[in-house]
Amino acid sequence: MITIYKAKDYQEMSRRAANIIFAQVTLKPDCVLGLATGSTPVGAYRQLVEWYEKGELDFSGVTSVNLDEYKGLSGDNDQSYRYFMNRNLFDHINIDKSRTFVPDGLEGDSEKACAEYNQIIRSVGGIDLQLLGIGGNGHIGFNEPAEAFEPETHCVDLTESTIQANARFFERIEDVPKQAYTMGIKNIMSAKKILLIATGENKAEALYQSLYGKITPKVPASILQLHKDVTVVADEAALSRIIKERGELV
Ligand code: GLP
Repeated sequence: MITIYKAKDYQEMSRRAANIIFAQVTLKPDCVLGLATGSTPVGAYRQLVEWYEKGELDFSGVTSVNLDEYKGLSGDNDQSYRYFMNRNLFDHINIDKSRTFVPDGLEGDSEKACAEYNQIIRSVGGIDLQLLGIGGNGHIGFNEPAEAFEPETHCVDLTESTIQANARFFERIEDVPKQAYTMGIKNIMSAKKILLIATGENKAEALYQSLYGKITPKVPASILQLHKDVTVVADEAALSRIIKERGELV
């Protein structure tokens, strides 16, 4: 089941998303959070840090597993997702860093890297709340549009549109890695709860197709229609196509 909350802008989206994560950590202090990168969750992470600094949140019992990592980048590389997570969240809260997991981008053997990550996801006992952003082409994690859904962690060739979209973080487009390790659809769908966040007009079509279109691996996020507990928090711009087609959300 999918519940959609409309936020007026990025700030409100971030606050509402952070609220849901706050509730999860408060209700189950030893929960497993599935975390995401990209520009969309930055505001929610900032809000969580603020609440932590005020003494309202305690992450000491939390475990986290991230969705994905670029193949070939080390955790010290400022473009790696490990670096992103440290800088935007982990360095500022009291989470035990040894309980924060991101696929190992430096493991050149894809099969080994993916098997190890699947093992980590199993060993932490599954994900309580998975945070997701969405790509302009409907990708989640780095599950790109494809002919079939990939169930578990796998190595993907990034699509040209994803490389272009992510180029803004790199000095030169040639520096954007062409491959990544990502959790698969079964890993994501096994999470007890999913929180999808989206902001901006450029996500409007992907969000509409994902939530109301055909369920197809060509729009990876469309699989979320089959999950029993999905919350979508999106701003007006990201919801504009849905509102146009289906009317105002209540
Ligand atoms: C990236 C990440 C995704 C993210 C998406 C959108 O490629 N792998 O996890 O959700 O693209 O990113 P952004 O939030 O910057 O739009």
